[in-house]
Amino acid sequence: MTQTKKSIHGEWSSRLAFILAATGSAVGLGNIWKFPYIAGENGGGAFVIVYLLCILLIGLPIMMAETLIGRRGRQSPINTMSDLADEANADPKWHYVGWLGVISGFLILSYYSVVAGWGIAYVFKAFLGSFSDADGTAIKNTFSDLMSSPLQQIFWHSIFMLVTMLVVSRGVAGGLEKAVRFLMPGLFVILMLLVAYAMTTGSYQQGINFLFNPDFSKITGQAVLTAMGHAFFTLSLGIGAIMVYGSYLPNSISITRTSILIAGADTAVALLAGIAIFPIVFANNLEVAAGPGLIFQTLPIAFGNMTGGWLFGILFFVLLVFAALSSSISLIEPAVAWLVENKEVDRKKACVWAGLATWVVGLGTVFSFNVWSDFKIFDRSIFDLLDYLTANLLLPIGGFCVAVFAGWIMRPEDSEHELRSSKPIYYQVWWFLVRYVSPAAVFLVFLNVVGVL
Ligand code: PHE
Repeated sequence: MTQTKKSIHGEWSSRLAFILAATGSAVGLGNIWKFPYIAGENGGGAFVIVYLLCILLIGLPIMMAETLIGRRGRQSPINTMSDLADEANADPKWHYVGWLGVISGFLILSYYSVVAGWGIAYVFKAFLGSFSDADGTAIKNTFSDLMSSPLQQIFWHSIFMLVTMLVVSRGVAGGLEKAVRFLMPGLFVILMLLVAYAMTTGSYQQGINFLFNPDFSKITGQAVLTAMGHAFFTLSLGIGAIMVYGSYLPNSISITRTSILIAGADTAVALLAGIAIFPIVFANNLEVAAGPGLIFQTLPIAFGNMTGGWLFGILFFVLLVFAALSSSISLIEPAVAWLVENKEVDRKKACVWAGLATWVVGLGTVFSFNVWSDFKIFDRSIFDLLDYLTANLLLPIGGFCVAVFAGWIMRPEDSEHELRSSKPIYYQVWWFLVRYVSPAAVFLVFLNVVGVL
């Protein structure tokens, strides 16, 4: 028999509320900050194609799996996994998947908050007119100045963590739901404006070619791993974020349709960001492989030189920070929901604990851009290591487990009950993907990276 439960943390007020919140979680620094710079570092077109394939064949099915698992369990990922394992007569150890997610979310947020802090710093720089008429070199120096100052970065990182904790402490349906309603459309409009500016740079075609003309000789095993890892990162998969949001999803809503919408919007934002950025890179002889500073060294040039650039600059960075906020909330929510359920602390205290711990770990990222820049573990700075460990390893491992759980452990009648597709073929396609294609793809990419394949 399939039964349904209710969450103690509340429920989304409508389908739109869930779509907005999940899109808010998905769309964030991953789309606007990370996607362009890793596409730049990995040679453009071919990388983008691999990334799109990963979204379609791995990301989307796993997103549906996470949502349906969350909705069925109606608790924090850890308790949900243990209940559903119980329901399927499976090993209770499956709840470690939930733990894995809590840890990954915590580690991601530690550096995510630092980068979001750079975004807040840029809101003020835009406001003070630091970009007006500036050329590529001046803009580059502005960014290096920020990187070399631990104090400034700690300051902005602290502000971002504080705001995150404040919003999360208010619970699901409060501030969060309302905020995303305006953010997403606003972000879209500004990105379109930037794309329009990119068309005037004279290097639009070159930017487009870089982004969409595949040169498969540039694809290495590591590049494929990065593309796959990013598919998980950008869709907020493998950490229980979508699972926890799914646990607040009313039963009447179609998981298939909402997942397609969310993944589509997420991909569109990433591609738009790339289309806006690369023409500026080429027009100003900047480096495509500039790394994490890419958007901070390119977009300000556009704002400094376009009409109305002062205002658009401020708006853009404000929206970027809000997009980051709607993601950071979901990074910490699995941990908070678990603390509330298991440690009998109230939501506020849970936020303070989780937030403080994240803040401390974030200092490692701040220092990796200055005082500890020479400190390397496995040849990587602390920031690089955290990013690699989470996006390229922990998220795919978490996602792999979710796929295996949904495809092999859960009873098909239960997953079918949750998906309730209007046409049986949709369910069958999903089931095939989640049972065979997604886990096999993740596994093969891993084998390739460790050199077995
Ligand atoms: N998807 C978010 C982004 O692209 C980051 C994120 C990852 C959020 C994992 C939640 C969970 O910025």
